Amino acid sequence: MAGRIPETFINDLLGRVDIVDVIGSRVQLKKSGRNHKGLCPFHDEKTPSFNVNEDRQSFHCFGCEAHGTAIGFLMEYDSLTFPEAIETLASMVGMEVPREASRGPKPDTELYDVLQAAARQFQRWLRGDDAAAAVSYLKERGLSGEVARDFGIGLAPAGWDGLKTALASFDEQKLIDAGLLVRQEGGRGRVYDRFRERIVFPIRNTRGRVIGFGGRVYGDGQPKYINSPETEVFRKGRELYGLYEARRARRGLQSVVVVEGYMDVVALAQHGVNNAVATLGTAIGQTHFETLYRHVNLVVCCFDGDDAGRGAAWKAVDAAFPVLSETRQLKFVFLPEGDDPDTIIRNRGQEHFRSLIGGAVPVGEYFLDHLQEGIDLDQADGRALLAELATPHIRRLPSGSLQEVLVNDLAARARIDASVFARSVGATWGPDDDQRSFEGRRRADQQEVGNKRLLHYVVQYPQLMDDLDPNVRAELADPDDASLLADVVRHVAQEPGMDTGTLVGCFVGREGYDVLVALAEEEPVLTKEALAPDLEARARRYVATREGAALTRKARETDTVEDAKRRSDAKAQQVL
Ligand code: CTP
Ligand code: MN
Repeated sequence: MAGRIPETFINDLLGRVDIVDVIGSRVQLKKSGRNHKGLCPFHDEKTPSFNVNEDRQSFHCFGCEAHGTAIGFLMEYDSLTFPEAIETLASMVGMEVPREASRGPKPDTELYDVLQAAARQFQRWLRGDDAAAAVSYLKERGLSGEVARDFGIGLAPAGWDGLKTALASFDEQKLIDAGLLVRQEGGRGRVYDRFRERIVFPIRNTRGRVIGFGGRVYGDGQPKYINSPETEVFRKGRELYGLYEARRARRGLQSVVVVEGYMDVVALAQHGVNNAVATLGTAIGQTHFETLYRHVNLVVCCFDGDDAGRGAAWKAVDAAFPVLSETRQLKFVFLPEGDDPDTIIRNRGQEHFRSLIGGAVPVGEYFLDHLQEGIDLDQADGRALLAELATPHIRRLPSGSLQEVLVNDLAARARIDASVFARSVGATWGPDDDQRSFEGRRRADQQEVGNKRLLHYVVQYPQLMDDLDPNVRAELADPDDASLLADVVRHVAQEPGMDTGTLVGCFVGREGYDVLVALAEEEPVLTKEALAPDLEARARRYVATREGAALTRKARETDTVEDAKRRSDAKAQQVL
């Protein structure tokens, strides 16, 4: 590993290079007043909105909002890592890059050469004599030679050292660093090909450089896909399969369709939809959206119509919210259960697929519809629950008219004053729990928020408990229930007419005090009159779900070995 580059050097360097030279040698710039202008290299445009400011030594594009310093420009334009960009700048002004912990070999632009050579070799193999099975597989899936060429699709041969031998002129360690060869752990540390007997999809960055591969089996075999590991140049969290090809296919690319699979991207291109991209076997994240919105202003997520697809869509909302704006739009299409973009376009054709994309649902609508599922908006507590669930998400949107639209839409649905919401955006939501099923997660979220709301009501208006059905109150106060809610209800039940201050006072120095203080101070979403009729329903629901949970727990404890095995088999089936 090369040592750290001292910060003082970076400042020094930025003081010596001129951003106008750096960018001017790569993009045609014209002087215009104190600025230099040109066509933005980060999105397609016909009139220049890309500005380089000499005084501030920065660039900014009014079209796609790309901006930064000379370092950022080089990283993006030349697909360089940070240290590589520093090296490049330093060599422009004849400076040597010092390294703090010394020992500073040149960074690895050689990785790109290795990967490029591998991609060429894979393509040669697909045109070679031993490719009959792979070629007929691709044909069967409806791919033409032309599309295979556009995407640089290749073939990794069977055997353990095809690539290793073909690229023997490269340093073996480089091939390992590039993720192409694998060194066996322990033992003799044998080195062999990672991709064997697979169709390989080269993954290119937006500059068109090959940075990794996805390899699909075409005969029998598991797993279906093998992907390059993360390397110095291959970052799954930021790269998207097909983005380079989409940008190349269409000047003035305005929108992309995000699909789940490599095959979906390629099949769509085959049928004339050449603006599809896919993540690299990972969920779509915020960085992916940042990348996409640097190039387009509309992203349409087109996920499969199954539980996994719906789960992916909800994750996408979470990932996208912080980066959305009026000009960065997000929409969703849900395909019928059992279909994916590949089958749809092959069976129904381009027109049909385009009409589905045309009917995509805007993110705000999908977001509220989804949260609202299973909530009764005719009930005041249902409306409060919707507000409660939505607020932390809306809080994560950048303030602006999109956030405003959502607040108003939510207020209308929940029949509550929009200004109350605008004020109550406070909490953030935690990371997703992958272990729970999509539906289960949503129900659990609702339940948790529902229970917290019940506690909030009791803390705010303890007197309401006096009018509650005594049976329900007794159930709530169940001595076996160790929750804070039950504890609070036990206190309230002992002393009719209790007020909030006295109640919180009972908990001084005890667990739960902080929670109660926070709830006591929190502005209630509903008035006492509005929530009174629903308190009982909510309390009954709490008791019922508590018992439901206890039953499931019990069932699990008395589960036979047979049952457990059946469950784990079923799970294994799902994984495959
Ligand atoms: N994936 C992966 N590893 C697997 C399975 C899937 O990395 N074992 C990733 C791949 O990026 C794949 C995507 O998840 O493209 C979607 O999976 P799937 O829909 O199963 O793949 P498709 O590309 O649609 O392939 P096919 O239609 O040939 O089954
Ligand atoms: Mn598929």
